[in-house]
Amino acid sequence: MASPVLSAQRPLREHSRTLAQATLYASGLGSEVVITYTHSAAGIRVQQLQGFFVGWSAAPSPERHLDLLRGSYAVEVALADESVVGFATAISDGVLSAFIPLLEVLPEYQHRGVGTELVRRLLAQLDQFYMVDLCCDASLEPFYSALGFRVIERGMGIRRYAAI
Ligand SMILES: CC(C)(COP(=O)(O)OP(=O)(O)OC[C@H]1O[C@@H](n2cnc3c(N)ncnc32)[C@H](O)[C@@H]1OP(=O)(O)O)[C@@H](O)C(=O)NCCC(=O)NCCS
Repeated sequence: MASPVLSAQRPLREHSRTLAQATLYASGLGSEVVITYTHSAAGIRVQQLQGFFVGWSAAPSPERHLDLLRGSYAVEVALADESVVGFATAISDGVLSAFIPLLEVLPEYQHRGVGTELVRRLLAQLDQFYMVDLCCDASLEPFYSALGFRVIERGMGIRRYAAI
C-alpha cells in the first residue's frame, strides 16, 4: 500500500529541554513500568536488542539493528531494566531536512505512551530543521497527527528486500 508522507513543520518546542536520559513511568494495560529513555546508542549492546522488526518477512539481525542505531543522525531508545523495548531513528542532511525511517515498540510495551514519547523526544532533537518527514500506513495517521505531523499527499520509494 502506498503510504503518504507525513511532515512535522511545527516542532514540539515544549520538549526541547529533553534530557540526555530520562526515566518515566509508563502506565497502561493495568500495570505501570519504568522506562528509561536515552538519545545515545553508544551504550547499547546487541544482547539488549531482541524481538524487534515484528512482522517483517526478513528481519535485520540484532547486529544490523545496532549498526543502524549507531549510524543514524539521531536516535531515541527506550529501555525497561536492561532491555531495549522501543526505538526511533532519524537520518538527516544536518541543514534543512530529516527523515524518520524507523519507529517500533515491542508488542508487550505498546499502548503505554512509549511510542509517543520516543517521537516527541526525537522531534526535540530535530527542532532546528525545516522539514521532518516520514512514511506510514493510513492507520497511523492519527498517532502522528497528535505529534504535529500533517499528511503530505504522495510519496515514492524503492524497497530492496534483499538488502535487509
Ligand atoms: C506505532 C507504535 C510505535 C506505537 O507505539 P505505542 O507505544 O503503542 O504508542 P502509544 O502508546 O504512544 O500510542 C498512543 C496512541 O496512538 C494510537 N496508536 C498507537 N499505535 C497505533 C497503531 N499501531 N495503529 C493505530 N493507532 C495507534 C492509539 O490511539 C494510542 O492510544 P491507545 O494506546 O490509548 O490506543 C507501535 O504500535 C509499533 O511499534 N508498531 C509496529 C511498528 C510500526 O508500525 N512503526 C511505525 C512505522 S511508521
